[in-house]
Amino acid sequence: METALTQLVGVRHPLVQTGMGWVAGPRLVSATANAGALGVLASATMTVEELRAAVREVKSRTDRPFGVNLRADAGDARERVRIIVDEGVRVASFALAPSRDLIAELKDAGVVVIPSVGARRHAEKVAGWGADAVLVQGGEGGGHTGEVATTVLLPQVVDAVDIPVIAAGGFRDGRGLVAALAHGAAGVAMGTRFLLTSDSTVPEAVKARYLAATVKDVTVTTAVDGLPHRMLRTDLVASLEHAGRIRSLARALRRAAGFRRISGLSWPAMIRDGLAMRHGKDLSWSQVLLAANTPMLLRASMVEGRTDLGVMAAGQVAGVIDDLPSCEELVTRIMTEAAQVLRTLPHPDE
Ligand SMILES: Cc1cc2nc3c(=O)[nH]c(=O)nc-3n(C[C@H](O)[C@H](O)[C@H](O)COP(=O)(O)O)c2cc1C
Repeated sequence: METALTQLVGVRHPLVQTGMGWVAGPRLVSATANAGALGVLASATMTVEELRAAVREVKSRTDRPFGVNLRADAGDARERVRIIVDEGVRVASFALAPSRDLIAELKDAGVVVIPSVGARRHAEKVAGWGADAVLVQGGEGGGHTGEVATTVLLPQVVDAVDIPVIAAGGFRDGRGLVAALAHGAAGVAMGTRFLLTSDSTVPEAVKARYLAATVKDVTVTTAVDGLPHRMLRTDLVASLEHAGRIRSLARALRRAAGFRRISGLSWPAMIRDGLAMRHGKDLSWSQVLLAANTPMLLRASMVEGRTDLGVMAAGQVAGVIDDLPSCEELVTRIMTEAAQVLRTLPHPDE
């Protein structure tokens, strides 16, 4: 199936596996690429050296195009851009707000730039800055998310910009792909669905929690880092939501100390990162610290399998996913179903 997305990045199918922190590593990304879709490495939770090694590992496992997701507000974003350019990575995507300078630098080097947006005005802004395509995530999507559902936001963005639009938030099958194409999208991007594959390195106990979740077990909370964050509803989330200011600060300090041991970040650097995530919001100090700690909370579940301690970011779609196919099986199944749906759609009488 050829679309503006397959032509732009040179993949076989108009499907993207998004850059999920601690989840989208070399194994998942190369399995996705080998299945003919676009895999995107999540770099925000890697050091610069880990990113270089991860990019090289993907290249050793596949000859197909892939992408890297980065945060424009990271202190070392320029170094990460250098790696993307030097290693010949095909696509760069941005978590949260991108920067005009970095987009220009990547584009000058021939990298395809696809920022993620959650609102029409952001899509217009990045299109004006020269982005090659835009990934629009509706409110049902996992991780940091907005309020407007994909079915409303997607056509709104398609109407607003002239570049290809990739739809994200709530997709898992061929029906969804056809629906997105009908809205004018050039393809779909999926996070939760790719997390729940046999190629994903997420511990089995954590995958089991996702598989067991119903749609109602997925919630949005600002209690973790001050930004609306969609995740599985767990005891940890409930306790963060009900803790008072003092208890929250004590807990945030304890987590921050733990994160520092893992990351080697200094306290000032951690506070700077936390403040950068505030986005002009009025956050308490405990929220600033938690914001800087969100990567550690995700790590506890996605890497260490701590379903009790960690945050499990999830789209609503987790409530309707109940299997763990390989990336190859998943991509084949979606494309086969999309073709069937297209054949069986009613055609208006001419
Ligand atoms: C576990 C998890 C981690 C995520 N981490 C990131 C991230 O580090 N950067 C980012 O841009 N988006 C992140 N996201 C959002 C996804 O990239 C994607 O936009 C979203 O999952 C799409 O919605 P879906 O889950 O309904 O497919 C994450 C999502 C999940 C489920």
